[in-house]
Amino acid sequence: MKVLQVELGERSYPIYIGSDLLSQPTLLIQHIKAKQVLVVTNSTIAPLYLESVLQQLSDYSVETVILPDGEQYKTLEYVTQIFDKLLAQKFSRNSTLIALGGGVIGDMGGFAAACYQRGIAFIQIPTTLLAQVDSSVGGKTGVNHPLGKNMIGAFYQPQCVLADANVLDTLDDRQLSAGLAEVIKYGLIRDAEFFVWLEDNMPALLARDKAALAYAIEQSCLNKAQVVAEDETETGVRATLNLGHTFGHAIETGSGYGNYLHGEAVAIGTCQAADLSRRKGWLTDADVNRIIALFEQANLPTTPPEALDSNRFLELMSVDKKNIDGQIRLILLEKIGLATLPIYVAQDLLEMTLKTYGRE
Ligand code: NAD
Ligand code: GLY
Repeated sequence: MKVLQVELGERSYPIYIGSDLLSQPTLLIQHIKAKQVLVVTNSTIAPLYLESVLQQLSDYSVETVILPDGEQYKTLEYVTQIFDKLLAQKFSRNSTLIALGGGVIGDMGGFAAACYQRGIAFIQIPTTLLAQVDSSVGGKTGVNHPLGKNMIGAFYQPQCVLADANVLDTLDDRQLSAGLAEVIKYGLIRDAEFFVWLEDNMPALLARDKAALAYAIEQSCLNKAQVVAEDETETGVRATLNLGHTFGHAIETGSGYGNYLHGEAVAIGTCQAADLSRRKGWLTDADVNRIIALFEQANLPTTPPEALDSNRFLELMSVDKKNIDGQIRLILLEKIGLATLPIYVAQDLLEMTLKTYGRE
């Protein structure tokens, strides 16, 4: 097992990465301070992994909430089901919420923990590759609104993250690829060496080679932990983790939540950001082709949906947390391995990308 630390002073916490972690009770229970524990999961993950987690908690007073599965349920309405349970069972302030699932459950569970009685402890047990390499680390929690993705939420750090690579065995190939989009992101924004490693090792990752997956998870978490330690609340460098996300969120919202997986939308959005970075004179044609080729190698889409024209894209992109006074700001690439902070881009350049990239 590898243990990485997210260094945030008194709110620092460990990320445990390894195999069979769900069957090691001490790992989990050392982070639980009182008897009441709520496990939040969904209807797909519950039959697979809930029992293993409950077995570790036999000395605790445990309740569960099993939400329906899907991005379309990442709403305030469904978070209310978590509050209903916490209140009905009289959970007190020293209780712990465990989020067992992918990014949707992690974001919703974390948000419920942040809000209930103004904050109870929570633990992330991420079960998708995307959640293990990104969403479970760093304390971004929240829900979607019909007008914008992740627009309601809170920064709220977990007590620990427990990433058991074995649970990825039941993840389908499409979801595995979606997670790889965020893995590729770290190479692009701050780790050129890792990008090259990914170019060389993508076949092993797709074949679920355990050593390759373990390395990709560790390297991703290391990068994320460093960025979060430097800028917990995204006043600076943390925004680079949003490479491709403004385009991607527009694709997710504009296509109806759940139609594109988050990682798929991010893959397309990152290619659009790469195209725009080329128009700015930073990336070469060869760089852009390398980036597109790596996403394609990971079996991810790289062109935007035809149904979203440039006007609709601009409208959707105008609802984004990086924007200031309604002006779109984007993360671009100066080179492979180096992202910009959020920048304003000339409207004609942005429109050129929206109208031409992937449209021929
Ligand atoms: P997800 O949570 O919807 O999970 C994907 C699918 O895989 C679901 O159907 C789920 O039930 C299923 N699943 C989960 N674990 C499984 C397993 N081990 N075996 C079989 N099936 C399993 O999607 P995701 O890609 O994990 O997360 C996407 C969400 O994360 C989005 O809402 C996105 O906005 C959010 N996100 C948040 C952050 C953050 O920093 N908080 C970062 C990136 C993404
Ligand atoms: N996933 C982007 C962030 O955590 O900041």
